[in-house]
Amino acid sequence: MVNKITVVGAGNVGATAAQRIAEKELARTVVMVDVAEGIPQGKGLDQWQSAPIEGFDSRVIGTNGYDETAGSDIVVITAGIARKPGMSRDDLLNTNAGIVKSVSEQIKKTSPNAIVIVVSNPLDVMCWVAKEATGFPRERVIGMAGVLDTARYRAFLATALDVSVRDIQAMVLGGHGDTMVPLISYTSVSGIPITQLMEKATLDAIVDRTRNGGAEIVKHLKTGSAYYAPSAGAVQMVEAIVNDQKRILPCSAWLEGEYGMQGLYLGVPVKLGRDGMERIVEVTLTDDERAALAKSADAVREPMSVVKL
Ligand code: NAI
Ligand code: 2OP
Repeated sequence: MVNKITVVGAGNVGATAAQRIAEKELARTVVMVDVAEGIPQGKGLDQWQSAPIEGFDSRVIGTNGYDETAGSDIVVITAGIARKPGMSRDDLLNTNAGIVKSVSEQIKKTSPNAIVIVVSNPLDVMCWVAKEATGFPRERVIGMAGVLDTARYRAFLATALDVSVRDIQAMVLGGHGDTMVPLISYTSVSGIPITQLMEKATLDAIVDRTRNGGAEIVKHLKTGSAYYAPSAGAVQMVEAIVNDQKRILPCSAWLEGEYGMQGLYLGVPVKLGRDGMERIVEVTLTDDERAALAKSADAVREPMSVVKL
């Protein structure tokens, strides 16, 4: 357990993440911050009132300011807006960049030693905005997307094979978008290569469904996007850091030459421990996977060039 974890944005992902963090007792105090007056306060109080039933002692509080967040060990950024009618993709990009920038500047002032986990979209670009605005080293600014994309991939595989999700090992790398790269060469079921258990056409369809996993949920919900699995993904990263688990998870990390790339955030295997991102693990890729990762990197660089920092 650490002393304090802050979740910025008390919307669907943020509030669900705060509840999960409290239920797992990962921090003595969980603070939710949002610009919407009353929302973080109301949700925080409601969550704290679930403590006697669920049996946790993490105190949850909600606020519109940053005083209560001071000295946070970990900050999870989920603040942002969804695209509105008449708004271009670039408008949305710059609006969310402005939000993540202002949030990051507050974090820098009030929690200068925090490890920041970014969730806001477009994910890989927002990680870069947070790193620039906080000035924190890359070890302390990491993005959540690969854990979610991999969970979707594993869930679809488990359904198709009718086996436990626990036995499926897999990794989805690349940017958080439809250019993401599910690594078939590293997908196995209790060590059995997936290609021995599934027809290529079925596997290709699952890879495709994974790439469109976020859009599939939006199509159902219509007024919002996924939040149960995304909040679970963010909290898995929080837990790995709080408990110094040294887990190898696919996270968005700032590349400085790894995988032959630099100057961007991209989903890669990362070792997570008490110091944040302790190492990027470089794995051997097939030619196709390497080419797909390069294409995914281009899809991250393009919006980076549009952001006005
Ligand atoms: P939401 O709309 O339910 O919540 C966003 C919250 O951010 C709202 O409560 C809003 O008031 C708040 N907010 C806006 N500006 C703020 C500011 N300056 N300071 C503090 N709070 C502010 O959205 P939801 O569903 O919670 O998603 C949050 C973000 O996470 C979105 O950008 C979404 O696209 C992204 N996301 C990313 C995923 C990933 O895999 N990286 C997965 C799911 C969502
Ligand atoms: C998702 O993949 C919207 O990025 C979000 O569900």
